Amino acid sequence: MTTDFLIVGGGIAGLRAAISLADAGRICVLTKADPGESNTGYAQGGIAAAMGDDDSAALHAADTIAAGDGLCDERAVSVLVEQGPRYVGELMAWGTRFARDSTGRLVLGREAAHRVRRVLHAGDATGREIGRVLWERVRALSSVETLTHALVTELLVEGGRVAGVAYFDRGGARAEVRANATLLATGGAAQVFRETTNPAVATGDGISLAYHAGARVADLEFVQFHPTALNRAGAPRFLMSEALRGEGARLVNVGGDAFMKRYHTGGDLAPRDVVARSIVREEERTGGQVFLTLAHLDPDYVARRFPSIAEMGRRIGLDVARDLIPVGPAAHYMMGGVDTDEWGRTSLPGLFAAGEVACTGVHGANRLASNSLLEGLVFGARAASAMQQPPAVAPLKADRRSSNPQSRIPNPEMGRVLAPAAVRDLMWRAAGLFRTREDLERAVMALDATSLDAERQVRPATTHDPDAWRHFHLVTVARLIARAALRREESRGGHFRADFPERDDLHWKVHLTDQIDLHGQTR
Ligand code: SIN
Repeated sequence: MTTDFLIVGGGIAGLRAAISLADAGRICVLTKADPGESNTGYAQGGIAAAMGDDDSAALHAADTIAAGDGLCDERAVSVLVEQGPRYVGELMAWGTRFARDSTGRLVLGREAAHRVRRVLHAGDATGREIGRVLWERVRALSSVETLTHALVTELLVEGGRVAGVAYFDRGGARAEVRANATLLATGGAAQVFRETTNPAVATGDGISLAYHAGARVADLEFVQFHPTALNRAGAPRFLMSEALRGEGARLVNVGGDAFMKRYHTGGDLAPRDVVARSIVREEERTGGQVFLTLAHLDPDYVARRFPSIAEMGRRIGLDVARDLIPVGPAAHYMMGGVDTDEWGRTSLPGLFAAGEVACTGVHGANRLASNSLLEGLVFGARAASAMQQPPAVAPLKADRRSSNPQSRIPNPEMGRVLAPAAVRDLMWRAAGLFRTREDLERAVMALDATSLDAERQVRPATTHDPDAWRHFHLVTVARLIARAALRREESRGGHFRADFPERDDLHWKVHLTDQIDLHGQTR
């Protein structure tokens, strides 16, 4: 199949791009699963935009930069916060139903590290509501063709330029889509970890596809661990939105003590990485679980404001307005990804990236809550503009350094080859909330060996086994995260090295990148 514009992914970034491209040519949208099955659909908290009377783009930028812990790209942040309200306004004009009070004014929610209320939300299912509206619009566009259940395996690179993708269709047959411009909007990668809030589709394919095609990836050591996923044996790690704490929910230990103030002056609304680590430390200190409690809030308000969370609770026999809710950290969001400029251009001509798969630099080392939907929206639209321009690549930004670890990692042939579940388990243990050189070296050795083995299974494109490709992409992303985490010998944002617990601006105010050169070597 040949088209003008190819979009891989059906979340907010891909759909917003498709809408902008509608009059510019033929568009093909490939989704890995059913339409709507993406991280976007699971976003509970909302979308942050400086739209309140007490707010401004400058204040939103300042909060974003503070959360990013010294590594935000301030130009990209300005684009995000200044253009955000316009794109959010457009969503409302298209029919997105954000919460409003009885006079019709927007009700803005509060989340950690925001100094003012600025989170537009639709109950606790904001992503689903935005996805509904965007899909409705995309379906009505005659220039857009959507192919679902398409597992993209490789980017086609011809003459140094990305010319489309190869994929397995629903029936397992291999096919290709060729395009003048290809946008990766494949979303997140937190399925690389055993404990995650993300749906099964969030396996980081876009990062792996771009990397193997020769594109530069950046900041992959920065993974955000959400502090409050449901933590009950046998139940999925359902997200217990930060908006719960924004509306007054408290974290308590097994003895019923609200402990967060002992760890941070921000208490329950301290930055996410701090709350996540504090929960683990409190569990170790007390030997018991940590819980969220809403018992002091009005139960009718809780049911009205958080209907999906209340419904999930009912399904597993929990009354979330009254009962203690066992919670713990889980991998949630990738700050790093395919290195882009503020137009979604990557280091490869013909290839663009937007949304969670991209590293625009807006999040630095730690994303401010509810900035992710905004990023997908703003940069999805901007990538669509760039896709209509003559080919250009993102310039190499300043402060980049190779993430090749300096530690001595033995020959990959010496490592143990791991199955997918073992990779996810290893990542959780060695590259999760608390990282050390010893654990990371062991992890990199195993992941080097596993990735070599996985590559042998899929190259030279001999296998028609989709599972082999899934494994190959998962291991690629896991290995890139672990290598960058080993290289960065400091703690900052989502990256915490127990052996280097301080932030070190003198040596590490840099972005770690990885890229395969023409000879297959990383640099
Ligand atoms: C949440 O609702 O807690 C998640 C929102 C986000 O990740 O920004």
